[in-house]
Order: sequence, then C-alpha cells, then structure tokens
Amino acid sequence: MPTAVLDVYLTSSEAETALRADARSGLTSIPKVLPPKWFYDATGSELFERITTLPEYYPFAAEREILRAKAARIAEVSRAEALVELGSGSSEKTRLLLDALETGGTLHSYLPLDVSESALREAMDSLAVEYPTLALHGIVGDFTRHLGQLPAQGKRLLAFLGGTIGNLLPAEREAFLHTARAALRPGEQLLLGTGLVISPSVMVPAYDDALGVTAEFNRNVLRVFNRELGADFDVEAFSHVALWNAEREWIEMRLRARRSMIVRVAELGIEVPFAHDEEIRTETSAKFRRHGVRGELAAAGFELTEWWTDSAQRFALSLATAR
Ligand code: AVJ
Repeated sequence: MPTAVLDVYLTSSEAETALRADARSGLTSIPKVLPPKWFYDATGSELFERITTLPEYYPFAAEREILRAKAARIAEVSRAEALVELGSGSSEKTRLLLDALETGGTLHSYLPLDVSESALREAMDSLAVEYPTLALHGIVGDFTRHLGQLPAQGKRLLAFLGGTIGNLLPAEREAFLHTARAALRPGEQLLLGTGLVISPSVMVPAYDDALGVTAEFNRNVLRVFNRELGADFDVEAFSHVALWNAEREWIEMRLRARRSMIVRVAELGIEVPFAHDEEIRTETSAKFRRHGVRGELAAAGFELTEWWTDSAQRFALSLATAR
C-alpha cells in the first residue's frame, strides 16, 4: 500500500521572518533589490502559469520538447527509484518524467519539495489519484536550505527544471550545487534545466510580453509586501523593466518608480524613499552555455553525463552524475 506523507521543514512563521529580513535589507540597500522567491503567492503562481502559455515565453515549451523526447532515455540512464523535484510547480513536466520512470519499472516514490504548502497539497492530491502505486512524500521547504534533509531510500534522481537555477545569483548557485551534490550519493543524478544564451531579441520579449502578464507578475511582489508587511506601495506607480545584461549574461527584471515617493512598510517600521525613475531589481534569470554548465557542475562534484537541447537550441537539459 503506497503512502502519502508531508513534512514541513519550513513553517509559515519562518517564511514570514525570511520575508521581513529580505525586505529590510533589500529596500534599504543601494541599489534596491528583492529576491524573486517572493513573487510566488497564490496570485503570483497563477500569473507564472499564465506566462508559460504566452507565445513569447519559449523556455517552457522548449524544455517540454526536450523532456518529451528524452524522458525514456532519462529513465534508462538513471534507473531512479525516487524522483525528487525541487520547486515542483511544473506539474505537466513532472508527469512526463513519472510516466517514463514508471514504464522503466524502477520508480517507487516521488518527493516534491516546494516552499508552498498549499501548492504541494494540491499537487499531491491529484498525483495520488493518477499514480496510485507511487509513494508520495512532499517536503515543504526552501531548496537553498533543506536539501540536506532528503530521505535516502533507493536510487534518487534530483530534478531542478524550468531554468530556475538561473534565478540564483552566481554565489548562491555555487552553494546550491554543492548542497545538491552533498545530498546525493555517488552515482545518483541531477537533472537540470537551463535557458541558453541566445539573441536578446528573443530573450527579452520572453520577459516583457505584449499582453503585460510578466509586468503584472513583477508588480505582484509589491502586493505581497503590502499584504504581508503592511506596506503602502502604490503598485501602479511602478513600471516593468526587462533587460539583457550582456556582461553577466542574465535577464534582469526591475520595477521603476514613475515618480518620487515615500513608501511606508508598517511592520518593519521603516520609510523607503524612491527617486523618480529609481529601480528595484526583482529578478535575475541567468542564461548559460554548455561549457559554463559543465564547469559549474564539475566544480561541485558532478560529471555532465548527457546534454540535450530543443531543436531551436534555446534551452538545455543536463543529466549530471554525482562523483
Ligand atoms: C522561475 C525560472 C521559470 O526566470 O524564466 C518568468 C520565472 N520570471 N518570467 C524565469 C519568470 C519572469 C522563470 N523561472
């Protein structure tokens, strides 16, 4: 009889403490900066789902194309008994992997790890019906902090899809890869999705779509701060900016103040002044090249075993093996 378990490594009060710390340091630093993880409340998660359906947002379809073509191969190479998925929002892609691994005959459990308990419960409820023989073990946690506590039954495949590793800054990325390596045993694998460096004329519109969904997604972080921290951001007074930083090879999203203003953050007891046109950096989304991915993996103790791209070479999926 398969089981369903949910472990909470990150409580809502810990998340609240982290949000306050990020808001205090980010809004008082020069230039202003906020980490992208606070986009994803219920509204932000829905807006992100809408982004994945936009014609400009190619990473989603590109990664799905690779997974459709390679899921069987991933199952064959990994022979995974447990699939661990970090930031498990992309449920459609999860099913491609689960189906292939079940067909391969090795899989017995699925362990999604996500910061959102509600999203996890919802996903696990439907997976329990669709995959009745699979043991489900959800983990409410932050993938930068709780990877060390992964259950260790059977051979594991750690999937980090969507290009989300690109949202970590280089030092955070390095730390993440080391933590991921330390969480695995030699021979276990990491399946990593990364956007590739391509023409800015393709990359930038993916983060600045014609319908303005990404602009709403970006501004949503201010709504989160208004609700959670009693801030009084005039959300419409900020415009969405997306640009390609050629030196760092990342897309940057920013919010630009349309006028000078003072924002009060009641729960922090601070007042945050904005000059006209002053910006908050809200996300970096790094794009990669093959040798860079291979090098970063190697530095963390992984060997790049397979590298696949979509037909238009916009996105890559790496299968890396812990040494
Ligand atoms: C979370 C990595 C899938 O950076 O491309 C989409 C988030 N931000 N549009 C990305 C996002 C703006 C996204 N991922």
